[in-house]
Amino acid sequence: MSEDRHIPVFLLNNPLRRLMESPERLAKEYVRQGMVVADIGCGAGFYTIAMARATGPEGLVYAVDSDQVAVERLRNTVEREGLSNVKTFVSPAEKLDFIPTASVDFVLSKDLLCCTIKHREVMREMRRIVKPNGTIHVSIRSFPFSKDPREVRREEWRELISEFKVLNSKSGLTSSWAVLRPK
Ligand SMILES: C[S@@+](CC[C@H](N)C(=O)[O-])C[C@H]1O[C@@H](n2cnc3c(N)ncnc32)[C@H](O)[C@@H]1O
Repeated sequence: MSEDRHIPVFLLNNPLRRLMESPERLAKEYVRQGMVVADIGCGAGFYTIAMARATGPEGLVYAVDSDQVAVERLRNTVEREGLSNVKTFVSPAEKLDFIPTASVDFVLSKDLLCCTIKHREVMREMRRIVKPNGTIHVSIRSFPFSKDPREVRREEWRELISEFKVLNSKSGLTSSWAVLRPK
């Protein structure tokens, strides 16, 4: 049985989510035309599609998730939208052999870490693929009293991000995010 937590597609791509999160706003802030982007733990592509539009046909978006169902849904959307710059992979985030070292301008890992036990391994892979002057946007959800081994505890979160130059970050009781660059 997989140790990864997979989230039903109807929750990931629920229109109500747009009331709280804007993929377009994030893409506008971090993605430029022609960039190479990686959406690690992309789910059904809530953020992937906005980033693919922002980077344009000259750019490239790697979209990776260990959940085949979510990736299939994303593949359908990519085809329907006629996007030629998205490469989808059903793969664990801790093994991104298909992405060359130091080749990605912007890595997004939206609420993936808290769905796996492989926190260190995933962070290591993201650091491997990002360019030396590239950016990683990583976020987690927290359930402070949870005993789930996938939970990223406050101390561990601080340790994980301390391996990078922290450009910006915010920590709350139920969610945290950080914008990172390799040291
Ligand atoms: C909370 S969802 C977020 C999905 C997407 N980033 C979004 O914002 O809609 C976390 C995703 O991480 C995926 N996931 C969990 N463990 C993973 C792993 N080890 N490797 C790749 N994907 C993983 C899950 O299948 C799920 O789609």
